[in-house]
Amino acid sequence: MTDYLLALDQGTSSSRSIVFDRAGRIVAMAQQELPQHYPQPGWVEHDAMQIWQGQLATAREVLQKAGLQAREIAAIGITNQRETTLVWNRKTGLPVHNAIVWQDRRAEPLCVRLREQGLAATIQEKTGLVIDAYFSGTKLRWLLDNVPGVRAQAERGELAFGTVDSWLIWQLTGGKVHVSDVSNASRTMLFNVHRNEWDAELLAALDIPAALMPEVLPSSSHFATTDAPLLGAALPIGGVAGDQQAALFGQACFGAGMAKNTYGTGCFLLMHTGEAFQPSRNGLLVTSSAQTTARPEYAMEGSVFVGGAVVQWLRDGLQAIKGSAQVQGLAESVPDAGGVMFVPAFTGLGAPYWKADARGTITGLTRGTTVAHIARAALESIAYQSAALLQAMSRDVVAAGGQSVSELRVDGGACVNDLLMQFQADLLGIPVVRPAVTETTALGAAYLAGLSCGVYGGTEELSALWRAERRFMPTLPRAQAEAAMERWEQAVRQATAQ
Ligand code: G3P
Repeated sequence: MTDYLLALDQGTSSSRSIVFDRAGRIVAMAQQELPQHYPQPGWVEHDAMQIWQGQLATAREVLQKAGLQAREIAAIGITNQRETTLVWNRKTGLPVHNAIVWQDRRAEPLCVRLREQGLAATIQEKTGLVIDAYFSGTKLRWLLDNVPGVRAQAERGELAFGTVDSWLIWQLTGGKVHVSDVSNASRTMLFNVHRNEWDAELLAALDIPAALMPEVLPSSSHFATTDAPLLGAALPIGGVAGDQQAALFGQACFGAGMAKNTYGTGCFLLMHTGEAFQPSRNGLLVTSSAQTTARPEYAMEGSVFVGGAVVQWLRDGLQAIKGSAQVQGLAESVPDAGGVMFVPAFTGLGAPYWKADARGTITGLTRGTTVAHIARAALESIAYQSAALLQAMSRDVVAAGGQSVSELRVDGGACVNDLLMQFQADLLGIPVVRPAVTETTALGAAYLAGLSCGVYGGTEELSALWRAERRFMPTLPRAQAEAAMERWEQAVRQATAQ
């Protein structure tokens, strides 16, 4: 049997395909940008056909770059931007509307109504989520209510709903298979994460016909076989997971208390909580982790809205740097931030603060402050926000009798920044560990596929493959780190007092 694995990683800003070998090393990679559409303020859409065509093109390109025939691939793993909502016609395969992207806020008025109906507790208990326009459920309801003819067709069973994984599988199988996995389903606000099935009560509460919904399988399963002509051979799709849960898997965080942080435009911090469903008292979400069996497993999740995006603001807003890569040099040109604190609450603050009306704030400016101090404070803000999230998670876990996190595994674009990683370790007081392969999202999808098709024998084998490239050990005395966190919290209070 061959043991190359092909990961399709369909993200918000690009579609990528990566071929991995059995040791989890990258053999080849191909990427295409995905155009964004902003039809109205607060609305974000993708062209569903562009998602599919772009993804297919990168899959074909990566095989060529790797010098492999499709039949040399053991299985395909799919990982994707989560919550993004698509509806298409089962007969024609045509979408009824553009995909509504996870960042899109159009369903907020519906969320207000759901909150007023007193559904928050039921939804948190069944799905682990808070009522928010982020998730697919209310986006789907918007399509049913606003696109002419859609509700009637949905009720006649003519339409299919899916997150991006389902859409890609539908296309890859020529419209034969309509499935999703538990980790993607858990982001819809319609999925009962205890029973691993669509929740009839929630479907009824949102007035969503059950005929729209895909079958849901564990993340490592035989999902489908691709249509042979598309890639040159019929390939099994053996792994599917939402990108954040896939990254947790790719970081070999398989057990309770293991955590990863992805430093992208925003940051996504996930901690595995094993089989324990622990609703948060600190504003975090509970989500289904990538699952290799039918037994539910969970993770706690929190996100930082403005992570690496703060560096883009330094470049495009403040025009303090020409390219993002300059930020580390500028920040390192001063020994510290000189007392400056930067809370980049450009769009409010998420977990653990949940202050939608907070705004960006820079405190501690003196006559001696330079743009280098501001750059350093901007970089540090990424670490402060992540530290506040991890501390909130630890409070939840410890309150439930669990262990707090002993190391943080990191990935995403900004994890190459050594200054940021060291500062993160200093604030947290635990090692921050950067793996040899930082493409952990795609790797997670490849691992899930490799497990289901027998390339790997079990997760122990994957844990053994995981290698650290660098461990950043905390060097700052705890009292100083705690004082720094206290100054951060003070700055947050100022940002939320506006
Ligand atoms: O929940 C949204 C997340 O899945 C998007 O990830 O990496 O495509 O921005 P990304």
